Amino acid sequence: MSRPTKQIHLAAHFPGVNNTTVWSDPAAGSQIEFSSFAHLARAAERAKFDFFFLAEGLRLREQNGRIHDLDVVGRPDTFTVLAALAAVTERLGLAGTINSTFNEPYEVARQFASLDHLSAGRAAWNVVTSWDAFTGENFRRGGYLAEQDRYERARRFLHTAWELFDSWRGDEIVADKDTGQFLGEPRPGAFAHHDSFFDISGQFNVPRSPQGRPVIFQAGDSDAGREFAASSADAIFSRHSTFEDGQAFYADIKGRLAKFGRRPDQLVVLPAATFVLGDTDAEARERAEVIRHQQVSGATAILFAEQLWNRDLSAYDPDGPVPEVDPLPGENTISKGRASVRMFDDRLATARRWRELGEAKKLSLREVVIEVTGRQSFIGSAATVAETINRFVQEDASDGFILVPHIVPGGLDEFADQVVPLLQERGVFRAEYTGTTLREHLGLELPG
Ligand SMILES: Cc1cc2nc3c(=O)[nH]c(=O)nc-3n(C[C@H](O)[C@H](O)[C@H](O)COP(=O)(O)O)c2cc1C
Repeated sequence: MSRPTKQIHLAAHFPGVNNTTVWSDPAAGSQIEFSSFAHLARAAERAKFDFFFLAEGLRLREQNGRIHDLDVVGRPDTFTVLAALAAVTERLGLAGTINSTFNEPYEVARQFASLDHLSAGRAAWNVVTSWDAFTGENFRRGGYLAEQDRYERARRFLHTAWELFDSWRGDEIVADKDTGQFLGEPRPGAFAHHDSFFDISGQFNVPRSPQGRPVIFQAGDSDAGREFAASSADAIFSRHSTFEDGQAFYADIKGRLAKFGRRPDQLVVLPAATFVLGDTDAEARERAEVIRHQQVSGATAILFAEQLWNRDLSAYDPDGPVPEVDPLPGENTISKGRASVRMFDDRLATARRWRELGEAKKLSLREVVIEVTGRQSFIGSAATVAETINRFVQEDASDGFILVPHIVPGGLDEFADQVVPLLQERGVFRAEYTGTTLREHLGLELPG
């Protein structure tokens, strides 16, 4: 028996503070002005996307003792941006990445419950643990948690936040103007939570929000991160965007749900993906090459190589060969504030591979970096890209994608205008929103 056709989920990631965002293109705009956020959100809503997504970075990254200048493009506060977007959109979900290492459950629960109210049920929380003490130096407790403890704190943090959300059932406010009775019970929002991380009690002061609890995302990729997602998240944001890798990740994560008493459809798998469109596949490939060269300038190639070599390579010529010198082993000390997921497992072997590739294909260091780092996920005409995305979803490499345009604010426009109508024609993507909340867009049940 053939199974029903899956509906694709799509989201718009405001491109982040990193080198893949091309700021030097004449069409590139501000990364921090509200008009840029609003433009991308409106394009996503016009295309009936499920949600808009913001990552979080809490410290300017440094490399080799200097501020990584490509990162200095601005990263305003998540809640402020999403609350402002709630006012200029009506149906689009609003997902924010907020870490559980440096915050407190009471404040985060208040912020998400408030966003869920202001947006009439469109809030989502991507619970990340963050990874480095360097970022932690910004905060009162510093980077005090060992890696394995961060997920334990995350689990307890999320459960505490759920207790706060659930401290209101939703029927406490009577607001009877005739009798003058406002509350139906004397002490709503009562909570008391005591464990080794949190020791809090009181009255939560935001009444139950439209979704009850915001949609929960998880993004960590380790075994502990995947277990956390399988036990507690409604959706997982991953980096596994190629077909085979995506299928393997999908099978792994969906296979973990049963032991937590959950069904496969209770966790939506959404890898990050990039795209380049053209009138023909050949033209898209040409554009993709141009974009890769914009993304990896000579200076960027050296910075990338330094992250692998873990040493100062500023004296090297990016248009010359891959450096002969070996990487420094051990913990990466040259680059601070970048996700550990970007770090390289075996530096010596990877550097050897880069050298061999350079020699075999007669490529400069810059060209090798262009070749080995972050290629675009979907390259082709609108028809090709629509067909490929649909195949990935129908064949369980994902349930959809969080699309990361390479340029703001207009990077999603072509996709919205050209690819989405083709997906709608195929009947695999909504032509109109059928629900009002993000839970409804994602096909998730309301929490009990
Ligand atoms: C796709 C993806 C996106 C992530 N986005 C963020 C982010 O925006 N902010 C952040 O602090 N950490 C982010 N992380 C890092 C995770 O929170 C986590 O700290 C890190 O991956 C280490 O956990 P792990 O070993 O389970 O992967 C992201 C991780 C992944 C895989």
